[in-house]
Amino acid sequence: MANVSVSDFLKFLTALRARDFKSKKVDLFLKNQTFLEDTFLPFIHFRDDTYGRNLVFRNEFFELAVLTWLPGHRTPIHDHASQRCWMMIESGELTLKNYEPPSSNTSPLIALGRAERRKSGDQIYIDDDMAVHAITNSSTKPAVSIHLYAGPIPECRIFNEVSKRFETKRLSYLTEGVWSSQGDFIESRICDP
Ligand code: SIN
Repeated sequence: MANVSVSDFLKFLTALRARDFKSKKVDLFLKNQTFLEDTFLPFIHFRDDTYGRNLVFRNEFFELAVLTWLPGHRTPIHDHASQRCWMMIESGELTLKNYEPPSSNTSPLIALGRAERRKSGDQIYIDDDMAVHAITNSSTKPAVSIHLYAGPIPECRIFNEVSKRFETKRLSYLTEGVWSSQGDFIESRICDP
């Protein structure tokens, strides 16, 4: 098992093309590597009102993000816009609750099993054929998770608890990583609200 930095991970990811993300390459990489302690530190920014979405890097094939969760922060129930999603808990604990993939925006929600509590070091894979889900920090401590989407997800469907329908929502970021053309990290910049 090797320890890799975020730059090593990006070197691996930027060499992949759409077909590679549909293969086992990412699973194999993640199975054999752990991340260096603090390598994601420049991308860890919290917000008070809701969970924080911090973009590390995005190209046409994938998007890598660090999500930050204070106690009580949660996502709505959402899908992954037909893309693949690998999620790694970097620190803290998160609760994941899955629901059957809805056949339409008005399909009733059907829970799939019980909510699962996942802890630091856990890796989770999900796609829309498996489930839609909600993520909650139901612990008393902050949590950080790393999310890889292939391809990128500029918008997804979220479940509106009032209208009981899925609606399309544009996803935004709290910060985004700025990289030089040589692949060196420059800064993590606050995005326009
Ligand atoms: C999000 O990207 O906002 C939701 C987290 C996830 O399900 O990967």
